[in-house]
Amino acid sequence: MKKIVSGIKPTGSLTLGNYLGAIKQFVKLQEERKEDEFYLFIADLHAITTRQTPHELRNRTLDIAAMYIASGLDKDRTTMFIQSEVLQHAELGYILQSNVYMGELERMTQYKDKVAKGEESIASSLFTYPALMAADILLYDADYVPVGDDQKQHLELTRDIANRFNHYYNDFFTVPEPIIPEVGARIMDLQDPYKKMSKSSDNPKGYITMFDEENMIKKKIRSAKTDSLGVIKYDPINQTGLANLLNIYASATDTNVEEIVLKYKVSNYKTFKEDLGQVLVDLLIPIQERYQDLIKSDSLQEILNQGRDRASDYAFKKMRKCKRKVGLGRK
Ligand code: TYM
Repeated sequence: MKKIVSGIKPTGSLTLGNYLGAIKQFVKLQEERKEDEFYLFIADLHAITTRQTPHELRNRTLDIAAMYIASGLDKDRTTMFIQSEVLQHAELGYILQSNVYMGELERMTQYKDKVAKGEESIASSLFTYPALMAADILLYDADYVPVGDDQKQHLELTRDIANRFNHYYNDFFTVPEPIIPEVGARIMDLQDPYKKMSKSSDNPKGYITMFDEENMIKKKIRSAKTDSLGVIKYDPINQTGLANLLNIYASATDTNVEEIVLKYKVSNYKTFKEDLGQVLVDLLIPIQERYQDLIKSDSLQEILNQGRDRASDYAFKKMRKCKRKVGLGRK
């Protein structure tokens, strides 16, 4: 039995990128790996590395929980919880800060991007964020961590931290492996296909959220940037926007890009985009309907209570052993 752990940060609305790169993969893995255990959380401690409005943060945290279940996760096979409700994340995060070097944190692209943008007042927790992320994973002895491509570097650092800790204190943490999907790992912005689709983008036409209505979804796909070549083929260098749309199509329909190209070879961008819009509507609208039922229900609260208790149980034992290893507190 393997353990699979992952999380999503409740900043901004969930996007199609989060869904195709992460949530859809969790559901797929759960269907494929009947023997394995799933720990999925909402990373609210990570969200406050940038300033959040308290009631919005709390609403978005619940939104993600409801979306996980609405997307098809089996609640009976998932330990789903809110990160800040399991105290040991912050505790282990601090210990791991003492096992990661400034130089390593300085090399993280997410941090470097923020600095490059010239943002002032960057919180120190944004810098130490990867240590907390490592804690999220190592606390549960995760074997696998399904994530999109942008989290690969954080996963590599998590592995380095685990190996370093294991070397110094004798084997203690499981060294996790990332699971990155073949298609859908990097969904790009619809208006600027050179940058990742992100909930923090300034231009809402560039991303589809999990809450967009039918007409909005279709409109955003219709106005997605393509090129003037007018031929449907997969050429990420010269037809970057179209390549992104082909990836979205393939990922949303569980096919591969070649099949989609073949299907639309003699077609045109307009028809392709209309069809893709419909594919996404068919995918997202049923999820939204299930979400609406869940968000108001007591069952979501129960799932989160249960998840918190189960995760805390494991985390408490792991931390007790960890502190003993490190020499903290009394025996
Ligand atoms: P976050 O909240 O930015 O993203 C959540 C998940 O969605 C994936 N993702 C994408 N995949 C494809 N295309 C995109 N455009 C796209 N945008 C986002 C991300 O790769 C991720 O899998 N630090 C993490 C949250 C986290 C975490 C963890 C993840 C905290 N602790 C422990 C795994 C394990 C983050 O900010 O993800």
